[in-house]
Amino acid sequence: MKEKVISWPDQKKAGMRKKGEAIRLSGNIVPSSFLCDWAKGKKYFIKTYGCQANVRDSEILTAYFNLLNMELADNEASADIIIFNTCAIREHAETRIRGELGRLKPLSRQNPDLIIGLCGCMAHESEPLKDLVATNKHLNLVFGTHNIHEIYSLIENCVKEKARVFNVTSTVDTVVEEYPEARFDTYKAFVNIMYGCDKFCTYCIVPYTRGQQRSRKVECVVEEVKRLKEKGFMEVTLLGQNVNAYGLDFDNQEYDFAYLLEQVALTGIPRIRFTSPHPADFKENVFKVMAKYKNIMPALHLPMQSGSTNVLNKMNRRYSREEYINLVKMLRSYVSDVRLTTDIIVAFPTETEEDFLETLSIVKELHFASAYTFIYSPRVGTPASRMVDNLTPEIKQDRFNRLAKVVDEEATIDGKKCVNSIVEVLFDSIDDVIGFIKGYDEYNRLVHVKADPSLIGKIKKVKIIESHTYSYIGELIEK
Ligand code: 5AD
Ligand code: SF4
Repeated sequence: MKEKVISWPDQKKAGMRKKGEAIRLSGNIVPSSFLCDWAKGKKYFIKTYGCQANVRDSEILTAYFNLLNMELADNEASADIIIFNTCAIREHAETRIRGELGRLKPLSRQNPDLIIGLCGCMAHESEPLKDLVATNKHLNLVFGTHNIHEIYSLIENCVKEKARVFNVTSTVDTVVEEYPEARFDTYKAFVNIMYGCDKFCTYCIVPYTRGQQRSRKVECVVEEVKRLKEKGFMEVTLLGQNVNAYGLDFDNQEYDFAYLLEQVALTGIPRIRFTSPHPADFKENVFKVMAKYKNIMPALHLPMQSGSTNVLNKMNRRYSREEYINLVKMLRSYVSDVRLTTDIIVAFPTETEEDFLETLSIVKELHFASAYTFIYSPRVGTPASRMVDNLTPEIKQDRFNRLAKVVDEEATIDGKKCVNSIVEVLFDSIDDVIGFIKGYDEYNRLVHVKADPSLIGKIKKVKIIESHTYSYIGELIEK
């Protein structure tokens, strides 16, 4: 099959940063009559891997397919276009996607018109992508995280020219402010507030896959939240790779994250969350806003990565163990009941047993309610991948297991503490157990309650009666 390379990823270029504010574009693109004709009676299927940024991107792709009047296929076999929205954060995520892609070979043999597309972070990894494309000839559309609004012209190229089409823009100085609307949830929505990341933690692929930091305009974010509220949404999560660096890329740095958060709080949407912040970018003014507004939820996911200053330095995290501890103390002085969760990487290259013990001790000292824990995974093109990795697989697994045990112990303590407490749950779905519905309380704890499904979409007072560490059983105490 013919190949049309509009742009091929260049990871080196993707790691460069240029000065000046982003150019703002509208994502409201009108499809051509050719594409509308092609789409008639056709179905799409999207498989999403990875973080909330990918979920949001899949919603946007869905919106573009909806505008073409395409239907969501029940499964891959009945789809005319299948898109894998991929994750590259760790090797494991990539391996899974390779497997899934391989599985589709027979399907593409049966249906030569089938479009199999790959987008998301894996599309940006120049070297691994070469191999992926060579070994998966049935993969006929690849586009990057900055090319989502070009989906119509990309499909049109595939169909008209019967070609494999590649378009992964590496350097990016644009923000798409308006996209067509589609949401997977009925009551909770993700709202992008910024794209990309300029932090360059040495282990992380994100600054290369999602590009330079670009913040959306305050008024665009606030308008989006207002629209969601009018439609009956109860909760928004403000999204970004590094939310509290919001606004640092504006020419006029008059607006920061605290300002944006306050404006969103003032819309009166019942619940606001945000993820993920970076410890080094936190300013006290954010905690002040969190303390001031009841609709900002008292739950914070604050990625720590390591409890050792030595390792944090090698990770280029820009804070020390003590600075992280002091930040948590400051947060708790403003929001005393805050539920704190984190991300931790073990077995970073050259991490010593002493470094690791510092991670174990900080988990106990700060009492994280839960933590996502990972074994370090080298990513091609990142500075850490060039460091000497002197740890054996046994040491890596042993540290991971020991950390998981301590994290679980802390989570169990946190779980027991909240039994008998009264919380407010936003119910969002029916539970697998008949008669139960489920939702999240203000602290982001999953609570199951025996109650009528008509309460879905509502916030109700619940008494926690049982803790199962990472989920809870509650009793409705408000009709
Ligand atoms: N190896 C292991 N974990 C990683 N993360 C990011 N990059 C890597 C990597 N190369 C983890 C960090 C981050 C979370 C989203 O994924 O903990 O906060
Ligand atoms: Fe990756 Fe660090 Fe940016 Fe988070 S802050 S996305 S870990 S580079």
